[in-house]
Amino acid sequence: MLKQALLYTGKAKSVYETDDPDHLILVFRDDASAFNGEKIAQLDRKGKVNNRFNAFIMQKLADAGIETHFEKLLTPTEVLVKKLKMIPVECVVRNYAAGSLCRRLGVEEGKELNPPTFELFFKDDALGDPMVNESQAIALDWATAEQLAQMKELTYKVNDVLSKIFADGNMMLVDFKLEFGVFHDRIVLGDEFSPDGCRLWDKDTKKKLDKDRFRQGLGGVVEAYEEVAARIGVDLSDI
Ligand code: ADP
Ligand code: TMP
Repeated sequence: MLKQALLYTGKAKSVYETDDPDHLILVFRDDASAFNGEKIAQLDRKGKVNNRFNAFIMQKLADAGIETHFEKLLTPTEVLVKKLKMIPVECVVRNYAAGSLCRRLGVEEGKELNPPTFELFFKDDALGDPMVNESQAIALDWATAEQLAQMKELTYKVNDVLSKIFADGNMMLVDFKLEFGVFHDRIVLGDEFSPDGCRLWDKDTKKKLDKDRFRQGLGGVVEAYEEVAARIGVDLSDI
């Protein structure tokens, strides 16, 4: 498949058209951003590590019967994906309290959430990705009630599959964000799953192994991502 025009430059990935209207190429860059683009840095190897990490996770999800956009790795930083019509809401599941939930509700970080919560955020940088509810998403024509129900069910299924994988690596999947899109009338998981879009803590020490290391200036960001990869069996030996 041939890489063609640059369609979009995001905060961490660039999106290219291909000669096939049903496929795109995503390029994982080394850029890191937080707080709505206020904090920006280049983190050596992040693009390669996240591309390989995401491919591993997408394969595990496909094995569990969840349809994803992932087709194949092309180069260390490039992946071929199905071209989705993205739904502009981010689906967040939380197993433990952290981040915006603690700030909003005054809850102590680390409190177990039973059952896990499900939240929607409007994907809009200019507005700072505000939280929205289902009725707003439907009324604003971002998604149908049926699509939202499917996204919620799929996000909880992803939580079951991935919580187990990370638990086997002695980690807690604290929370994560997913993005979905439509491909020939089907809801398909898009974007990426990597330590950039989730929170992962060591089960014993509660050491943060995710993008909070960047947000909070803790250092060792890509090293932590590599540690997570090693713990769950992602092979990074050739990149
Ligand atoms: P952001 O847009 O939040 O800065 P990225 O830098 O990760 O994020 O850019 C990747 C963009 O590509 C995102 O806007 C995402 O919604 C979009 N995207 C991810 N997967 C697909 C896909 N399969 N089809 C179309 N767009 C996609
Ligand atoms: P939050 O605590 O900031 O609401 O984030 C919850 C989880 O979702 C956390 O793992 C980070 C992830 N997330 C993103 O990666 N991008 C986003 O735009 C949002 C809203 C959340």
